[in-house]
Amino acid sequence: MEKKETPVIYAALLGLGTVGTGVYKVIKSQESEMEQKLGAKVVIKKILVRNLEKAAAKVDDPSVLTNSWEEIREDDTISVVIEVMGGISPARAYIEEALAKGKHVVSANKDLIAVHGKELFDAAHKSGSDFLFEAAVAGGIPIIRPLKQCLAGNHMQEVMGIVNGTTNFILTKMAQEGMEFADALQLATDLGYAEADPTADIEGLDAGRKVAILASVAFNSRVVFDDVHIEGITKITASDIRYAREMGCGIKLLGVARNTEDGIEAYVCPMLIPSSHPLATVNDSYNAVFVQGDAVESAMFFGRGAGEMPTASAVVGDVFDIVRNILSGCCGRIGCTCYKNLPIKKMEDVNSRFFLRFQVEDRCGVLAEMTTVFARYHVSVVQIVQEESRKDGQAEIVVITSRVREKDMNRALDELRRSECVSEISGVLRVYGE
Ligand code: NAP
Ligand code: HSE
Repeated sequence: MEKKETPVIYAALLGLGTVGTGVYKVIKSQESEMEQKLGAKVVIKKILVRNLEKAAAKVDDPSVLTNSWEEIREDDTISVVIEVMGGISPARAYIEEALAKGKHVVSANKDLIAVHGKELFDAAHKSGSDFLFEAAVAGGIPIIRPLKQCLAGNHMQEVMGIVNGTTNFILTKMAQEGMEFADALQLATDLGYAEADPTADIEGLDAGRKVAILASVAFNSRVVFDDVHIEGITKITASDIRYAREMGCGIKLLGVARNTEDGIEAYVCPMLIPSSHPLATVNDSYNAVFVQGDAVESAMFFGRGAGEMPTASAVVGDVFDIVRNILSGCCGRIGCTCYKNLPIKKMEDVNSRFFLRFQVEDRCGVLAEMTTVFARYHVSVVQIVQEESRKDGQAEIVVITSRVREKDMNRALDELRRSECVSEISGVLRVYGE
């Protein structure tokens, strides 16, 4: 009997930076097994770059390089486009044009998906194409596909976690080596974790984009970047971390999305988390996502949230999924899963426990004055720590509250800021959990 020829699926890479280079390498490393694994061969036919000369050293055959998007778009033999360029423009236009041409798209572009996800899904639906984006959240950790498929039998109540490696590395160094923020950031930059402009990481924007995507997928309702309340880690000090430790907690930049009766809560902020929580032990540049559903109860996903090869692992997983769909004639099987239109809760209505660090006058009656203000705004104190008196007549007081509405906490803090006994509010952090 004649041997059937193995089908070849042609793909194009848009971008050959960190992730693009990883995707190229992973696809090469899978070459010998693809036929058995997928029943097809995946060949990268074209790679879109800006600088042909610079890119030539990264590939075996420089003739695959092009700086013409149109050449890729108009090549009907290319059925999969892998967008790893980043940014909104021209990435958005290229993805939409590829989908309109009936091509399938894989993207790692969280900046784009967190803002224009709906438009991209609509375009994919219109052409019956696949649009997959596993790498956009937590790099190499599988979380989008588990939420859309393995956990589809749940009503998800919460999805939260450490979704930024750079800030987790910085906070780990601050906790383990007593470093201040600026020194830990410098180390992260020297070791290549932080980008030349670290703003998106340290100000929580990168994590905010991932939370928007996670919440949309977990709760079947669109959450965009602007819906997410975002605070970064730039104000965290070694003192905050030391006090947190004394209180049995670590400090992590957490992305939290909760599906409550009165709307979706979505925020990113540095939070105290009990040392006994599994996320408290996720250190260095690792990421982890913790989910809670009505059937599964809780599940945790852990691994490398960024980097050339871990991110490429997720991208290539998506490409292989598409290849299987093409071979089975079932593309577009799982498209947009946002079929609800849930309200987004304002941050001022979210209830949290708080960790507060005050510099106050060291005299009788100060605590009574403070607790009177707290009582006025329904803030209940559950723990107070005061260090030994200082020579300057000031004392540092650290307070942990029970759950209180943000709006009330802010009013109490405004009044305390104006009071004579408080000279400074040096730290305001939320505490994760009930
Ligand atoms: P990168 O290293 O900056 O690579 C981007 C590449 O795309 C560069 O080679 C750049 O070319 C090229 N490019 C940009 N605009 C282009 C254009 N208009 N035409 C042709 N080429 C263009 O970025 P990356 O770290 O690989 O990230 C790529 C995407 O993956 C982003 O969306 C990012 O958010 C996402 N992601 C990254 C990671 C990670 O660990 N790095 C993890 C998860 C997701 P030049 O070199 O000429 O500028
Ligand atoms: N800059 C991100 C991080 C990786 O530090 O986790 C890309 O998502």
